Amino acid sequence: MVKHIFFSLFFLFIANNSYSSDKSQYIKSPDGLTIVEFNVNKEGRPFYNVSYANKKIIDNSFISFKFKNDKEIKANLSIVNFEVNSIDETWERIWGPTTKVKNNYNLLKIQLQETSESKRKFNVVFKVYDDGLAFRYEFPEQENLNKVLITDEQTEFQLSDDFICWWNPGDWDSYEHLYSKTKFSEIDGTPYLTNQLIASYIPDVKAINTPITMKTKEGLYLSFHEANLTNYAGMTLKCDTEKLKMTSALVAWEDGIKVKTQTPFETPWRTIQISKSAAGLIESNLIENLNEPCKIENTEWIHPQKYIGLWWAMHVGQYDWEMDNNNHGTSTEISKRYIDFAAKQNIESVLIEGWNECNPTWMNGERKCQFDWVTSYSDYDFKEVIRYANEKGVKIIGQHETNGLVGNYMDKLDDAYEYLDELGIGTVKSGYVGTLIPAVHYQQGQWMIENFRIAIEKAAERKITVFAHETIKPTGISRTYPNLLSQETARGQEFNAWGKPGNNPSHSLILPFTRMLGGAMDFTPGIFDIKLEKYRENNQIPTTLAKQLALFVVFYSPVQMAADLPENYENNPAFQFIRDVPVEWDDSKVLNAEIGEYLTIARKEKNTKNWALGSITNEESRDFDIPLTFLDEGVKYRAFIYADGEKAHWDKNPLDYTIHNKEVSNKTILKINLAEGGGQAIYFKAID
Ligand code: NOJ
Ligand code: CA
Repeated sequence: MVKHIFFSLFFLFIANNSYSSDKSQYIKSPDGLTIVEFNVNKEGRPFYNVSYANKKIIDNSFISFKFKNDKEIKANLSIVNFEVNSIDETWERIWGPTTKVKNNYNLLKIQLQETSESKRKFNVVFKVYDDGLAFRYEFPEQENLNKVLITDEQTEFQLSDDFICWWNPGDWDSYEHLYSKTKFSEIDGTPYLTNQLIASYIPDVKAINTPITMKTKEGLYLSFHEANLTNYAGMTLKCDTEKLKMTSALVAWEDGIKVKTQTPFETPWRTIQISKSAAGLIESNLIENLNEPCKIENTEWIHPQKYIGLWWAMHVGQYDWEMDNNNHGTSTEISKRYIDFAAKQNIESVLIEGWNECNPTWMNGERKCQFDWVTSYSDYDFKEVIRYANEKGVKIIGQHETNGLVGNYMDKLDDAYEYLDELGIGTVKSGYVGTLIPAVHYQQGQWMIENFRIAIEKAAERKITVFAHETIKPTGISRTYPNLLSQETARGQEFNAWGKPGNNPSHSLILPFTRMLGGAMDFTPGIFDIKLEKYRENNQIPTTLAKQLALFVVFYSPVQMAADLPENYENNPAFQFIRDVPVEWDDSKVLNAEIGEYLTIARKEKNTKNWALGSITNEESRDFDIPLTFLDEGVKYRAFIYADGEKAHWDKNPLDYTIHNKEVSNKTILKINLAEGGGQAIYFKAID
């Protein structure tokens, strides 16, 4: 139920505020713990600050805009009007970690106008929730601001102390870095400049990408990001490590302009998630709540799925993507083997990568070749593969690897989607690997953000679900377009295939508290051949086998890949967990959590009484007593437990695991032992 109550309860007018020339305005979260103050100072400069439980977390922080052809909007502003509102509603997700989402906030909208001659105006809108706050700028249609070329949005976040931070560098092209943990004052992206594995552009080593997550001395958790990144440029945050201040630094077009737009327009939401616990960050729905409701009328065709694929085989070097060396992976015959495995093991879909011709005659000097997404390699008969898959009851997931040639992809997108339609393929994995061509654009810039949205909207029109690798950071758009199932856009499993440096054991303990706060990730868990001895020396993946299973529960995604080769799954009893683990959930509970350390999550399988649990740790071993109070009251369960063996260790003994089962109920307290770099996965099947 939506309650629209306009009232001024949240406004306290404080006279004689020494800092400002006017009267401060306050808005509180529904639980009263978070308070945002907004005002303009004596020069007419707008600023805000934030406190939580009577302690400042963001000190006075200013807001200003620079334009190419217009004067900066910075000072001489006055508050001409304001509006308040309070919303308490619940909406339902088509897919997600829970089915219902509470959206409860107080709103304050302030209208600012210049006192100088040009009288330009804009609004600042705050939404304050129990799990954080957000604000955006609205620029209405107006005489003295029409066509707008933003050269700088300077939104400040003046931290009140030198918080501990988990961060990635402010890379305009890549999100595929390992995270750093430092004090804010020690942020310095210089070591990231020498990363050889990925296309990367870091214009400022003192800037970071969002989400950046922080912990205060008092144990409060904060995460800074943006929501609903639409028709705008992605935001990095420039860090002044002396003044402990972050300032928005937008990704630019070639000519240095950040955003090309026109009034009326609104910016994405600048968000700060706030939680007393690390678990609370994961349970927060702030980012999705700030996006618009679903725009797709009939969503029956959208559904989560588990998949295997012709993928890891190419990454480890068993097969090639291309035909040049007579070792092409995606032939008709090999694809059929994967389909047979999926049919036998009850896995819904098979991803087909490396199927399409890269015709060298189209070479333009910028890439080895260009795809058209309708022409198969000569050893691959797509129609025959589809016929075979249909016969076996298996779905095929197509792949549109753009190789960063996004201009080319956008030109051919209609034909490429048409071809998927013709084949009866309903899901495509798109990929944007490498620096973008035309080379004047960046992955996180406005051009890419607009083109990626077009690709998602056009897919929705054709009832195609998409999951995307690389490309723009997730900001909750999947609420509006739930056909965008998931994204990689972070350092995923593939880095473990390529060799050192892979992903260290704590990487999986940082992702859920940073990148994954923006949305689901296609990490591709489930590697059983951890030693990779067949492919190269000294290339072991830093994980235990049980941890790979636990990731299916801990990492939420509506598409989950069982990433290893069929031959590594055949005859391994641990594969039973991958068969059993659901991808559709009714409910999720974070049972324990500490950033970079450990994480245990239980999720309830959709429309059943069954549950699953995943628990993972970093380089340290852990023992937990987990009360199973989340299980349904009065129901008996058989718990199928996949645990680290006694001698398991991510480096010394990664393959040691045990499987056992026992009867449990919601009264049971379960002892969980995690090895160094290990994990545990449990499937709780209700006993009828
Ligand atoms: C990078 C993607 O992340 C990966 O999943 C894909 O296999 C390769 N690009 C090739 O398309
Ligand atoms: Ca990637």
